[in-house]
Amino acid sequence: MNLVVVSNRVSRASATEPMTGGLAAALLPVVEKSGAIWVGSSGRVREGAQKEPFAEIESLGKGALALLDLPAAHYAGYYEGFANSALWPALHSRTDLIRSSHDDYKSYREVNSFMARALLRFRKPETVFWIQDYHFLALGAELRELGVTHPLGFFLHTPWPTRDIFGGVPHSRELVEAMLAYDLIGFQTDDDRDNFLSFVENDLGLDIAGGVVASKFGMSRCAVFPIGIDPAKFAAHAAKAASHPDVSRLRRSLNGEKLAIGVDRVDYSKGLINRIEAFDRMLTLQPQLKRSVSLLQIATLSRGAIEAYGDLQNQLAKLVSDVNGRHGEVDWTPIRYLNKGFSQTVLAGLYRTAQVGLVTPLHDGMNLVAKEYVAAQNPVDPGVLVLSKFAGAANELDTALMVNPHDIDGMARTIATAFSMPLVERRMRWEAMMTKLRAGTIQDWFSDFVDALQNAHAASAKASGDLAPEDPPVVWPARSFSSIVGNRFH
Ligand code: UDP
Ligand code: G6P
Repeated sequence: MNLVVVSNRVSRASATEPMTGGLAAALLPVVEKSGAIWVGSSGRVREGAQKEPFAEIESLGKGALALLDLPAAHYAGYYEGFANSALWPALHSRTDLIRSSHDDYKSYREVNSFMARALLRFRKPETVFWIQDYHFLALGAELRELGVTHPLGFFLHTPWPTRDIFGGVPHSRELVEAMLAYDLIGFQTDDDRDNFLSFVENDLGLDIAGGVVASKFGMSRCAVFPIGIDPAKFAAHAAKAASHPDVSRLRRSLNGEKLAIGVDRVDYSKGLINRIEAFDRMLTLQPQLKRSVSLLQIATLSRGAIEAYGDLQNQLAKLVSDVNGRHGEVDWTPIRYLNKGFSQTVLAGLYRTAQVGLVTPLHDGMNLVAKEYVAAQNPVDPGVLVLSKFAGAANELDTALMVNPHDIDGMARTIATAFSMPLVERRMRWEAMMTKLRAGTIQDWFSDFVDALQNAHAASAKASGDLAPEDPPVVWPARSFSSIVGNRFH
């Protein structure tokens, strides 16, 4: 098999650079090991119509990275426009933030079609294409349009909202129809898959028997593949990073204070305002905690050209400074707020230094930081994860301290409880979470999806009468053949 993985954002091999987002962080190690080709945006754009899309190829572990310059005329409409100002807000149930024009949609489709043409050069007879995330909902349909009959898989890293909310996306029906070109559509949670299937059934009027949908493209299977991490790698990083200058400086600066840590892109889905307000409320309700606890919030700037993101950056900076101004002392600052990123090695050391991990999104597909925080803990003295019930990770990490991020008082109380949790309870909760993390690693996610994709493609080919090449021809007795055809299609 020759696997071609496609995403907008890709990542180069580096132990010293921060990762941008969970998709790139998750895919990097598995692509490196599997020998796949990973195709994505170079981050540069190119003027004019490109007959032969330009790709720069680099080696990446056993595989390769192919970086494409996307068309200049359509990039902003595709990325800042339709992908991140229509789809992202809707997928995170924020239809109030949808800002998108018909031209943005046109650009989104143009870039999907451009990517389809670019992928043709990576096609071999045994190629399997695996498309990632909401930037490329229509890429499968574009590939089929170009005559590609290979297995096509799609995985969505974000949530999928209820059908009324997704219906708020301009061209929502057309997009979901296009998605049915994929043989396999993977989601993070049962709720995401069920919401998608409900849209297919009610808004497209198609049957969804057993999670399989028949459309003009053939059969499309919808299933759940919760994404994981490599827990052993994070544990090793965390132990090793203890002596890293950033980590030891942090430890020294704490003077016995307990630390909570948050690590997020500055994105309205992450619930950062509510988290800071809860920390503020905790210090107001329990002033005896002053000087004995603090928060390190790593907040990497994201998608800054979009108004909603710029507004949030300003709002957060102001809120943090208000809280520090109100509660701070000459020798103590409640919140350290950093707009910069760290490598995953350093991050693991920072996670391990913090007695509490705060992961409180309003909506999140999975949230890998939650899993990484747990994996990085010291087994003999683990910290406590405070986790939003609206993160996909809450399904597996169900022994975390669960919070409703809209309930500021409840969160304030829970954060205080986390700081004072006795060792026995911390260990019990942590061990239960580690068992789950070990049972569903990123390597398992990768191989489970690729296996399921090959099976789904074979099943779809069989159902449409076009037998998969590896299957021996089936010789039917004339009568039973016609009766089967009769039952199926008439
Ligand atoms: N990350 C990083 N350095 C940073 C901040 C984050 O490498 O300074 C990585 C982090 O380790 C995690 C990813 O970025 O793997 C964030 O993924 P998550 O699923 O939590 O959120 P997303 O940003 O994808 O919404
Ligand atoms: C989320 C999305 C990814 C995206 C990442 C970072 O994890 O699911 O597709 O790559 O955020 O966002 P960015 O827009 O910087 O790529």
